[in-house]
Amino acid sequence: MYFCRRKGNFMKKVLISASIISMAIFGTACNDKKEDSEKEEKTEKEAVDEKPVDENTESETVEVSKDPHSFSNPYEVGTKHIHLDMTVDFESKTIHGIARLDLIHHDNKGKFVFDAKGLDIADILLDGKEEVEYKIIAQDELLGMGYEIPVKPETKFVEIHYNTTEHSEALQWLDPSQTAGKKHPYLLTQGQAILTRTWVPCQDSPTQRITYSAKVKCDSDLMAVMSASNPVRKNDNGSYDFEMKQSIPCYLLALAVGDLEFAEIGPRTGVYSEPSMLQASHYEFGDMEKMLIAAEHLYGEYKWDRYDVIVLPPSFPYGGMENPRLTFATPTILAGDKSLVSLIAHEMAHSWSGNLVTNATWDDFWLNEGFTVYFENRIMEKVYGKEYADMLLLLSQQDLRAEIEDFKANDNMKDTHLKLELDGRNPEDGLTAIAYDKGAFFLKMLENKVGREKWDEFLKSYFDKHQFQTMTTERFLAYLDKELLSTGDYEVNIDEWVYGAGLPESHVEIKSSKFEEVETAMADFKNGKSATEVAEGSAEWSFQQSLHFVRLIDEDISTQQMAELDKAFKFTNSGNSEVLSAWLVKSIERGYKETDERIINFLMTVGRGKFLRPIYAALKENGRMEEALEIYSKAKKNYHSVSVGWIDDVLLAEE
Ligand code: BES
Ligand code: ZN
Repeated sequence: MYFCRRKGNFMKKVLISASIISMAIFGTACNDKKEDSEKEEKTEKEAVDEKPVDENTESETVEVSKDPHSFSNPYEVGTKHIHLDMTVDFESKTIHGIARLDLIHHDNKGKFVFDAKGLDIADILLDGKEEVEYKIIAQDELLGMGYEIPVKPETKFVEIHYNTTEHSEALQWLDPSQTAGKKHPYLLTQGQAILTRTWVPCQDSPTQRITYSAKVKCDSDLMAVMSASNPVRKNDNGSYDFEMKQSIPCYLLALAVGDLEFAEIGPRTGVYSEPSMLQASHYEFGDMEKMLIAAEHLYGEYKWDRYDVIVLPPSFPYGGMENPRLTFATPTILAGDKSLVSLIAHEMAHSWSGNLVTNATWDDFWLNEGFTVYFENRIMEKVYGKEYADMLLLLSQQDLRAEIEDFKANDNMKDTHLKLELDGRNPEDGLTAIAYDKGAFFLKMLENKVGREKWDEFLKSYFDKHQFQTMTTERFLAYLDKELLSTGDYEVNIDEWVYGAGLPESHVEIKSSKFEEVETAMADFKNGKSATEVAEGSAEWSFQQSLHFVRLIDEDISTQQMAELDKAFKFTNSGNSEVLSAWLVKSIERGYKETDERIINFLMTVGRGKFLRPIYAALKENGRMEEALEIYSKAKKNYHSVSVGWIDDVLLAEE
């Protein structure tokens, strides 16, 4: 066996047990200057004992690494359960909330620290009666504020009375005109990675888990749903009760309020959406129960009781978000032919990788996303066959290669390591094809080395043994070595994958005759075969093949040829958002202007960052900056703060 341990591999760890490593406390003075808080944070980090990881002893104690993206102190006094009492006021676009945080005392140093950002905190009470003074011990533009309050070992709960503000970045308040039905307003939240603290004061770190319950009051013509047990119909009083009895990291707290209806798909699965989209959503996700059964066959029992999906308005900034029991999804996957359901497989797979076994810090993000892309592909293979799944893997490999080229061009190969270093940066910087696709290809390589049967057995027991726990990269690698690699004679260079740059040579090669067919079609077209004839041969193509074809359009293709392709393939009218958005980018690059109207319409209605970014970037890079800025100035009101951040980066950031 060759398992090369990373030299000098130290992990900052804190053990929640009798022997707790002492942490330096923050200064007592209230400071609100960024430099001060940075200095103090550093003092704390330096004080964290650094110990080598012992991969041979699976500690009984719970290891928690210090999270650089939270000011909270769950290793001293943590939160067991949160109860939320919230009134959603569409008039003032405010949530009036009371958050009751039930405490768990590990190594009480007399203080409890929670995170909040953009919240107006009114009162804080201990055990429901004693009002306490809080101290703001840290303040940072990205992370928000650390609130410290004194707590005694016998303090049971902290009650925080607060209001959200216009700076509550997790929230998107939509006017009726921004919804499908045009009659009712809508509210949605996005917590991952560090935005939950902008709508719920909490110890906002994935290193710790909470259960939660909630009461949400809203207008009686609306329905509220959460990442918890959910209603299936509206009630008369607009008051809804929720319970999430399985423990989750705070980034999975989620809420949506709107004119919602529910339709059942299978015994454990169903879909929520505005009434006008319900039928289409129900059809599109018709295979969901089958997918859940496939997932369970692969990696063990589904632990969250129900799996439902809510199809949100198009402004949702992501494709999907794995909020437990209730995946949040973009309507851009409603292609009408079930062709984009791999996204559902992805969010469903997070019910194991991410929600059951959770990345300890955002530096370990690949443990969430790489495992999930891998698992997603296995679900797709089980339900739709290997040929279909392999095409998805090839697209994922194309994304990965393109991203690595970008990192190379920016001389930033460090961010192509699976294990990231995001201290002092926005965790969103880790949202790249590296965590997702390099992560998945790493696991694919391991599967290939040890054989599928052994690999699947290993993965199943990995999820089972670490369920409802957090995981660091180092702890996973130690487990991998102990339980799998050391049991046979495997040549595996883990380091080059996890701590090395780019895509290692040892990656699995995937071949697809379906993609070869597409490559031939493009070559034929370039050699003079008419677009109509090429299109005739593409009648049976999957969306992956169409997307591959569009991606093959390069500088050899003239504007005239773009027009011919469009006429024959009808790309500008494609109902498949993946194909359409790729085509729109190519049309900008190739100077094909017939798509201009479609581009404006797309940018005005869709808020999904994955699609917006490349389109705005293409406009900018192809001498159409003014147009881009003009569209953005009108479209911005339809985007969630997360997407606004991305587009600002694309269009407004200094080079
Ligand atoms: N958990 C992610 C979304 C996310 C990651 C939000 C980090 C905030 C911070 C979700 O599971 C995801 O990966 N969504 C993808 C879809 C997927 C099929 C790759 C997306 O939104 O495009
Ligand atoms: Zn994901």
